[in-house]
Amino acid sequence: MKDDQTLTHEQVEVVRGPRSGAAIIVALHSTALGPALGGCRLQVYRHWLDGLADALRLSEAMTYKTSLAGLDHGGGKMVIVRSDAAPKPSVPDLLHDAGDVVQSLGGRYITGPDIGTGPTDMELIGQRTRHVFCRPETHGGSGDSSGDTATGARVTVSDTDLEKRAVAERLGCRWVRPDQVLTTPTDVLVPAGPGGLITADVVGQLRCSAIVGPANNQLATDAVADLLHEVGIVWAPDYLVSAGGVIGATARELHRASAQAAEDQVRRIGPTLTSILRQSAAAERPPHRAALGLARSRLTAAAAG
Ligand code: PHE
Repeated sequence: MKDDQTLTHEQVEVVRGPRSGAAIIVALHSTALGPALGGCRLQVYRHWLDGLADALRLSEAMTYKTSLAGLDHGGGKMVIVRSDAAPKPSVPDLLHDAGDVVQSLGGRYITGPDIGTGPTDMELIGQRTRHVFCRPETHGGSGDSSGDTATGARVTVSDTDLEKRAVAERLGCRWVRPDQVLTTPTDVLVPAGPGGLITADVVGQLRCSAIVGPANNQLATDAVADLLHEVGIVWAPDYLVSAGGVIGATARELHRASAQAAEDQVRRIGPTLTSILRQSAAAERPPHRAALGLARSRLTAAAAG
């Protein structure tokens, strides 16, 4: 990912929703491999420009995710900037506005769930456009894309929503406070919330051997990936290991694959990660450099062909 000042996105739409008044942002990073995929994030931001920054970075990661997953899709992301100020727009108004923006892109962007949205929200978006994944299974979609949670491991859990403690303990997990989570000794740290958790300052305090999780944009900046490599912590690139949702939804909804075939395709992430970790070890360079190289090689081949 680039840290320079050049616009590398194909298209960015910013619309003030006529029903909701909310800023609705769609960043299309690349459609070189096909229509861009990416979830719809519904979240409170301090300023809509913070939502724009999020959409830009998240959509780029989606391009690498779909490329490495072998999908004929590009990367995009939609952000609906929720505000705390009264009067608060209703969720249907927000999502109908969002659906109209997706529809206006004519299929160049297909949305799906992300932080703050799930299958019932996709159904509301689906009332305005057919370019949407993961509507409830009762409505012809493939439903929740978050998939099975890890079983068999000893799990320590934390959440900024302290009410989740009871759920964690009921599931037999140990609970730690959110401010302790990064420094708790563990084999594998699993970021599963909003991005930007792992900053350069945090790297020295981590007590894990590897970081592997479903959150998008886990690292505050790309430079943190190099720092992690220097201190010997293996970072499995988030845009590679979090592709299960897009792989499953496209397999089932676009290619009408069986549940088993979709799962087989999701499981190919493992061998891809293994080969990237091998390449990284052999070349003594951080795994994310090998992963980005592979993701970009598909884009370059598509552009040439
Ligand atoms: N939030 C999902 C991701 O980041 C987005 C998504 C899931 C899009 C399923 C389409 C289908 O990968």
